[in-house]
Amino acid sequence: MPAPRAVLADVAGRLAAAGCIAAAEEAAELVSAAPDAHTLAAYVARREQGEPLAWITGAVRFCGRRVLVTAGVFVPRPQSEELALRAAALLAAQGPGGWAADLCTGSGAVASHLAAAGGGATVVGVDSEPRAVDCARRNGIPAIVGDVGAPLRSDAFDVVTAVAPYVPTGAIGILPPDVQRYEPRVALDGGPDGLELVRRVVEAGARLLRPGGWLLAEIGGDQDRALAPVLESHGFRAVDVWHDEDGDLRGFAAQTTPG
Ligand SMILES: C[S@@+](CC[C@H](N)C(=O)[O-])C[C@H]1O[C@@H](n2cnc3c(N)ncnc32)[C@H](O)[C@@H]1O
Repeated sequence: MPAPRAVLADVAGRLAAAGCIAAAEEAAELVSAAPDAHTLAAYVARREQGEPLAWITGAVRFCGRRVLVTAGVFVPRPQSEELALRAAALLAAQGPGGWAADLCTGSGAVASHLAAAGGGATVVGVDSEPRAVDCARRNGIPAIVGDVGAPLRSDAFDVVTAVAPYVPTGAIGILPPDVQRYEPRVALDGGPDGLELVRRVVEAGARLLRPGGWLLAEIGGDQDRALAPVLESHGFRAVDVWHDEDGDLRGFAAQTTPG
């Protein structure tokens, strides 16, 4: 192979021409993941077509940790890290021996952070897609194929998390073309108002959490307004929301009434 700097510059130039925003960083990842020049050429061609970088390299960094991501499984987003950090802090505050469930776990990225930083808690994941469940297991998360929280029977979880699909069906068409083309629709489409799955997550959280337990889920837009009465009717109080640096709503935490 030519000198790494020349290779990097060449790959970065091709990725930039293909429309990649972080071309230099992506080039560095592809070059370091490729075992030889032939593989690198194949990787670059796939990325030029818009395939997610994490599917090509097989992994992404999430909360400072390497998470494996199999092709076909939703790629964890940096904006979900805040939810994982908040949930792990709440879990760790319960003391040792906590329990957490990560619904719609995908690759198990959120669950992996809870397992590592949740004070030694036991963490289980659920996803409807067998491919995602396999991936979460490869990341060390005991995961089950199932619908939302249906496979779980306990009512003693300390924390329930969910990055469920929450894009309104009518807004799928304005997602970036590569996301629409590659990422599984079942991971994105939240129904007419985007909240079909999130409402079911609230129901599941009310069933699974112990009194005083916490539900944290990702939402966007102004979905907090539509969700407020749903949370209230399921016995949640102390609802807190957070926003990103651009002021966009990113999630909520809600506590069940302490016993
Ligand atoms: C936006 S992705 C998030 C994945 C992961 N939590 C993350 O942050 O990377 C949503 C996930 O929900 C799963 N999902 C969709 N409908 C579901 C359902 N009815 N029950 C369980 N999981 C579901 C999808 O397969 C996908 O893995």
